[in-house]
Amino acid sequence: MDKRPIGVMDSGLGGLSVARILQEKLPHESLVFVGDQGHFPYGTRTPSDIQQLALAIGRFLVTQDVKMMVVACNTATATALPNLQAAIPIPVIGMIVPGVKAALAQQKHARIGVIATTATINDGAYVKEIKHQSPATTVITKATQPLVSIVEHHLTGTKQAQAAVDEQLASFKTAKVDTLILGCTHFPFLAPEIHQTLGAVPLVDPAVEVVATVKKQLTQQDQLNPTGGELTLYTTGEITDLKQGADQWLAPAPMTYHQLKLGG
Ligand code: SIN
Repeated sequence: MDKRPIGVMDSGLGGLSVARILQEKLPHESLVFVGDQGHFPYGTRTPSDIQQLALAIGRFLVTQDVKMMVVACNTATATALPNLQAAIPIPVIGMIVPGVKAALAQQKHARIGVIATTATINDGAYVKEIKHQSPATTVITKATQPLVSIVEHHLTGTKQAQAAVDEQLASFKTAKVDTLILGCTHFPFLAPEIHQTLGAVPLVDPAVEVVATVKKQLTQQDQLNPTGGELTLYTTGEITDLKQGADQWLAPAPMTYHQLKLGG
């Protein structure tokens, strides 16, 4: 048993799509969430910028005595995961390896599509991991950075969101993928719009496999928390903005909100 919280980070609201699955599958775990909205978006930043920001957050989470860190941001996973794993003294779990595992577990995975931020696509992390695990699979990628802002600006469920998804995913209507990886944690919040555009193509939210990995690791290490479930949420941006996302997407739980100044 280990009552320390799990640390979760993202550039913004996308990490809440991972936090909500942690709440669902591990309801007695407490979470310390950091949304780096003061530096959003990560997807258009340089790799060294992203590495510095992710490391600052990782070090902050260690000061909060978390037992594990979940990098609930594909961009930070693609560019900073090894740096984080080397720099902080707790297990660090990223999105990409679990996401690929989940996609390859789909019945059809001969042609996998990946949508993600510009930085994640430029890094090539998903293509490398899919080809590593399944060399025969064809991978079709598209940087869909504008969709990140749609979610971050609370525009899901609007005509503007549907128009943006239609435009950004138009190429997948002819590319005929049999599975689409949502390679940015903001995108699961656009699942209804994506289904509207692409019909029945199965969507893979890597968070499901990430949380399964967290659960397995905590169980093996006898580190599950039987009595927690509260959330401590930090933002480097505006608390009202983070609270609006948490109210919309998280399950009810004791929650406290705080402002965070990185490096300060
Ligand atoms: C972004 O800040 O551009 C999105 C980060 C991500 O979840 O990949």
